[in-house]
Amino acid sequence: MNIEDYLKKSVEKLRSYPKSTRIRIISHYDTDGICSAAILVKSIEREGFDFHVSLLNHPFREELEKLGKEENDLIIFSDLGSGQIDLIKNLNVDSIILDHHQPEYRDLIIDSIIQINSNLFGIDGNFEVSGAGLCYLFARVLNKENVDLSVFSLLGAIGDKQNLGGFKGINKEIFEEARKNNLIKVSRASLKIGNGELVDEITNSVDPFYPRLSGRIEEVENLLDRVSIPKESRYGDLNNEERKRLHSFLMVSLLKNRIEPEVADEVIKERIVSDKLPMNFDIISEMIDSCSKSGDPGLALSFCLNPEKFFEIVKNKSEEYKRKILEKLVRLEDGDLEERENMVYFLSERASEGSYMSGIVSNYFDCKAKPVFSFTKKNGKIHVSCRARRRAVEQGLDLGYLMREVADKFGGAGGGHKIAAGGTFENTSLEELIEFIDSMLGKNES
Ligand code: C5P
Ligand code: ZN
Repeated sequence: MNIEDYLKKSVEKLRSYPKSTRIRIISHYDTDGICSAAILVKSIEREGFDFHVSLLNHPFREELEKLGKEENDLIIFSDLGSGQIDLIKNLNVDSIILDHHQPEYRDLIIDSIIQINSNLFGIDGNFEVSGAGLCYLFARVLNKENVDLSVFSLLGAIGDKQNLGGFKGINKEIFEEARKNNLIKVSRASLKIGNGELVDEITNSVDPFYPRLSGRIEEVENLLDRVSIPKESRYGDLNNEERKRLHSFLMVSLLKNRIEPEVADEVIKERIVSDKLPMNFDIISEMIDSCSKSGDPGLALSFCLNPEKFFEIVKNKSEEYKRKILEKLVRLEDGDLEERENMVYFLSERASEGSYMSGIVSNYFDCKAKPVFSFTKKNGKIHVSCRARRRAVEQGLDLGYLMREVADKFGGAGGGHKIAAGGTFENTSLEELIEFIDSMLGKNES
């Protein structure tokens, strides 16, 4: 059987319930999870079903256990679930999982669960499809008219950085489909930048993080002076010569930190735009993530469901959060980033900030090809977020596997992808945990 058959099976399962049923949707709180939920909400609503969504942050255990106290007929888990099969099994409720994380179990049917995990169908969940991509495939089987939801699938894939080096596999098919249906266009090559005053846009840029410029307004003023561009100019008003001068200075600043070619290719490139969304997809995807991680995933979802109404408020929330993150990134740049033999790491007050910052540090700081770890202590447990560069993954690094190994050793839960993973661990100290991870990474190299 192929993935289509299982998607049909899960659509049949949904249709076996009367329209009055309230479908429970459980998704992850990052951009991919939120876009997954948006696709499910819209497609299910169009069929006449009611819905109730929760967006979860790791560790999921408590929230999933609470689900057992609710009266649910059918639960759809998106962008999560394959790492939580035992908890979901205990719920004893009809469930559909649409996930692209590394699965723990290889069965497609487990009691009353249909597990649609891309990796079980030979589709690489690291690079070829996102959680939102799988939700889109489900929505399209539900009704061909749902093709408009492809835009959220692309936003989700961008949120999971699956667009680096160009869309591949299912992501590419969805991109082509969206383009053929005139849902998206590709704009001329540009920076990932808004149209506020240049000095603010560059100073507030988190992704890309321009070394010694992001978060440092005086340095940005100096740079604009050197390239003879008035600081209050707007990107959209620059002439070709000015654009070129600015591009090359910013690119040089990034290359000093030896960023990977795929990341460099993202800096100045054609951007996806849609008539339905007010800014390009790279900016919107980042906005959803930062709004959610600032503590308001519900607002980020409302924006996906009604972009016009919620754009300004999400934009403001996102900018405020990014300014806070930038202060912390500047401190890491000024020396707070710690280094061990096989890893670099930093401590973070909140797990969500560690999740947000670790990817930026990995892509834009010179980490000497070592993976990046963020550690957050909370209630006697330690939450870890880790990110690697593609080159390290190509050489055999698997962070999802590493996080599961750590959970096996100390207790807790861990998992994810080869390139981005996380976990919450018990019964260990920070020093012991760092020691263990560093030594495991050392073994990987030999
Ligand atoms: O929490 P963070 O954003 O760092 O997680 C990185 C990736 O690892 C996400 O895709 C997340 O779903 C996954 N993860 C996991 N199990 C955990 C923690 C994180 O699968 N316990
Ligand atoms: Zn995802």
